[in-house]
Amino acid sequence: MAVIATARKGYCVSTAPIIGRVHNLRTSLSAFIGRESQVAAVAGLLCRDDVRLITLTGPGGVGKTRLATAAAAAVADKFDDGVWFVGLAPISNPALVVPAIAQVLGVREAGEEPLAARLESFLADRRLLLVLDNFEQVVVAAPPVADLLGACPGLKVLVTSRVRLRVSGEREYPVPPLSLPVPEAASPGEETVSSEAVRLFFDRALAVKPDLALTAETAPAVAEICRRLDGLPLAIELAAARVKVLSPTALQARLERRLPLLTGGGQDLPARQQTMRAAIGWSHDLLAPDEQALFRRLAVFVGGFTLEAAEAVGGEGGRSAPPSPPFPPPSSTASHRSSIRASCAGRSNALKSPATECWRRCGSSGWSA
Ligand SMILES: Nc1ncnc2c1ncn2[C@@H]1O[C@H](COP(=O)(O)OP(=O)(O)OP(=O)(O)O)[C@@H](O)[C@H]1O
Ligand SMILES: [Mg+2]
Repeated sequence: MAVIATARKGYCVSTAPIIGRVHNLRTSLSAFIGRESQVAAVAGLLCRDDVRLITLTGPGGVGKTRLATAAAAAVADKFDDGVWFVGLAPISNPALVVPAIAQVLGVREAGEEPLAARLESFLADRRLLLVLDNFEQVVVAAPPVADLLGACPGLKVLVTSRVRLRVSGEREYPVPPLSLPVPEAASPGEETVSSEAVRLFFDRALAVKPDLALTAETAPAVAEICRRLDGLPLAIELAAARVKVLSPTALQARLERRLPLLTGGGQDLPARQQTMRAAIGWSHDLLAPDEQALFRRLAVFVGGFTLEAAEAVGGEGGRSAPPSPPFPPPSSTASHRSSIRASCAGRSNALKSPATECWRRCGSSGWSA
């Protein structure tokens, strides 16, 4: 327990109302909206004896980290040795994943024993939950995490990642967007106000424009903005910050040129969440070159696409690349496509940010459709 005390000193221990145990979960300064059923579902999985590794997947900004933190907080009292959050976003070298976990837990190298072995001995008889955040860029470090789980029966791991880890025993939980108002309830009625997306928009908008009201004029515009942004929390936050200078109606109209508008995230957010372009770019940059070429080809589908249509345009890897199968077989990098596909795919998907970003990247790479 002395080591836990060391870890506590080094990290901001939250004052959130988590009963009992030690943890280093940070308290967010912004309100957490909705997600009751998802928090309950993930917490339920974490409490099951037969589930040891859960991966929350989804595109950038869908709310994986917020959901993971809320679910981990909800079950903190079930883990005698605490809940420990390990942020992996700054790490791109998979070899640094184990040292990052060890550092958070206060486990240090000593003598000849490898750090992984020391970590294993430390965790061997502890009941502890690790939250590994932003695993997508170090997915090849999944086997060492699986080894740790195999050696430490009281350990559970909750991962957030734009792609799944693809190791045995993993339970994937795709994080859905926030709930949207139904189209016929665009007037300021119960349905509009109770949708999670509209609640998030208003919460963040009121922070910059306290006199904003849900009226017969603003409610339909806000509902439409949320629908056009597909209930993606990051996009909604970026749009809501604009109501300081634009009315919801003007904002809705300007969302036709979405990406330039969805900028200017809070200074305390990571760089990848400062703009929608950066959020999509983070996923794009994890793709192999042939997958990046496929992504650019998908720009022709402004309103979403079916799998068949995507296969029709994906026959070649790019202008100069040799022909390749439309969707290459699963590999550690190929799976990164899913995070972009999750944003792009589906006829009903109205979020055009990925498509717009495709066009921008077509221009910068000299690729033409
Ligand atoms: N349920 C929610 N209530 C309030 N804010 C939310 C909610 N979900 C997400 N957000 C906010 O939306 C933004 C994006 O959420 P989050 O960081 O959890 O996304 P993510 O899926 O982890 O993204 P990334 O892949 O970039 O790590 C954050 O500013 C977060 O605070
Ligand atoms: Mg995250």
